[in-house]
Amino acid sequence: MRILIFGPPGVGKGTQAQLLAEKYNLLRISTGDLLREEVSLSSPTGRKVEQFLKKGHLVPDDIMFEIVDNILIENKDQDILFDGFPRNLNQARSLEKSLAQLGQKIDLAFQMHLDEDEIIKRLVNRRYCPKCGQIYNYITNPPKNNDVCDFDKQKLSKRDDDTEAIIRKRLRIYEAETRPLIGYYKSLNIYREVNAQSSQEVVLDEISSIVDDYLNIKCRSN
Ligand code: AP5
Ligand code: MG
Repeated sequence: MRILIFGPPGVGKGTQAQLLAEKYNLLRISTGDLLREEVSLSSPTGRKVEQFLKKGHLVPDDIMFEIVDNILIENKDQDILFDGFPRNLNQARSLEKSLAQLGQKIDLAFQMHLDEDEIIKRLVNRRYCPKCGQIYNYITNPPKNNDVCDFDKQKLSKRDDDTEAIIRKRLRIYEAETRPLIGYYKSLNIYREVNAQSSQEVVLDEISSIVDDYLNIKCRSN
């Protein structure tokens, strides 16, 4: 199974992707996490992409294709969940082609949506663990001990792009570049919409019930 989640910044893609990957044993490909890792390693790719991330701009497609295509080839027998990829129509078409070369396709494309005020509230209160990547929120999902990861006791970090000005820029880029994916995935009949307003658990149940239905139908038709 290959599924993807897209939606505006802060809507909860990463949170749901972590929960779904564990629940369904999926390899989570978060392009945002992969890019931040390259930056923190100061690799040649990291040095190329740093300014794009800082400014909230999309990283050029050719860099993204190189990263994602290598992972797809290395993990061709693994069920996959894409978090934040594709980000525009060009990436969506390229992903379709790369998967087709492996005899694969996207089974379900989830779009999460939430109003902008709530998005900004969630993002300015977000922290993450720099070691394991666990996502927290000071208001809705705080760590047990102030500022420290529940799992490995690392001090939590704030993302450089989580300032109100950059969040607003990321929202505008989402509207212009990523929102057109709705029509694209509708035309492929795999589009599913998820209201991200409810708690993490309720959102997870909603996505899971769609995934379970899909798996049941697939199982019956085999
Ligand atoms: P990326 O890391 O993907 O950032 P994003 O799309 O802006 O989304 P976020 O990670 O900020 O939010 P999220 O939806 O994952 O929310 P989260 O679960 O953390 O990309 C970053 C940058 O990398 C891009 O700007 C671009 O530069 C580059 N990039 C990445 N992919 C690219 C691509 N394919 N092409 C080109 N460039 C690319 O949740 C947010 C907060 O809300 C957390 O605090 C969480 O605890 C809380 N929360 C989550 N769910 C709930 C809930 N149900 N109720 C209450 N609180 C909740
Ligand atoms: Mg994320």
